[in-house]
Amino acid sequence: MSENHDHHDGQDDHELRVSKIRSGTVIDHVRGGQALNVLAILGIDGTDGEEISIGMNVPSDRFARKDIVKVEGRELSQDEVDVLSLIAPDATINIIREYEVVEKHRVERPDVVEGVLSCPNSACISTGDEPVASRFEVLDDGVRCAYCETIVRDEIPSLIDT
Ligand code: CTP
Ligand code: ZN
Repeated sequence: MSENHDHHDGQDDHELRVSKIRSGTVIDHVRGGQALNVLAILGIDGTDGEEISIGMNVPSDRFARKDIVKVEGRELSQDEVDVLSLIAPDATINIIREYEVVEKHRVERPDVVEGVLSCPNSACISTGDEPVASRFEVLDDGVRCAYCETIVRDEIPSLIDT
């Protein structure tokens, strides 16, 4: 062999080297550094044997750098997409079937997310014994609990109800 690197999939050195997937979801244009949080939101830790490919801080046309997450054999729920939009507001969700992109849409930030994040304030009515669904208003740079007004920015991934 004259070359000292792997021929992954025939792409040249300037292209992304993450293999195409057969069917599932490609979450593209994720903010650089957020890929592991995307996995956390999807509840993926690798122990269930899911086939996942990740690119982190790879060059992008649209931004200086992006992350990309490919999940084989799974499509996302609207709740999952809503939470993703909080940490990856520019993400594109691509649904892949038989290697083709059959659907592509940008995530949209909802005005409110209900029942998907738990309030970090232990005195908040939404975290008590009474069954009150959590409710957060979506701000430009974070979320605000509708009950106690606690504002959360960087810690959103750690508040995801699983
Ligand atoms: N992709 C994949 N497996 C496939 C088909 C596509 O992993 N079988 C990935 C591509 O690598 C790309 C994303 O899904 O990261 C979207 O594919 P495509 O729409 O073909 O790429 P672009 O036109 O570059 O997407 P965009 O315009 O959204 O940047
Ligand atoms: Zn609260």
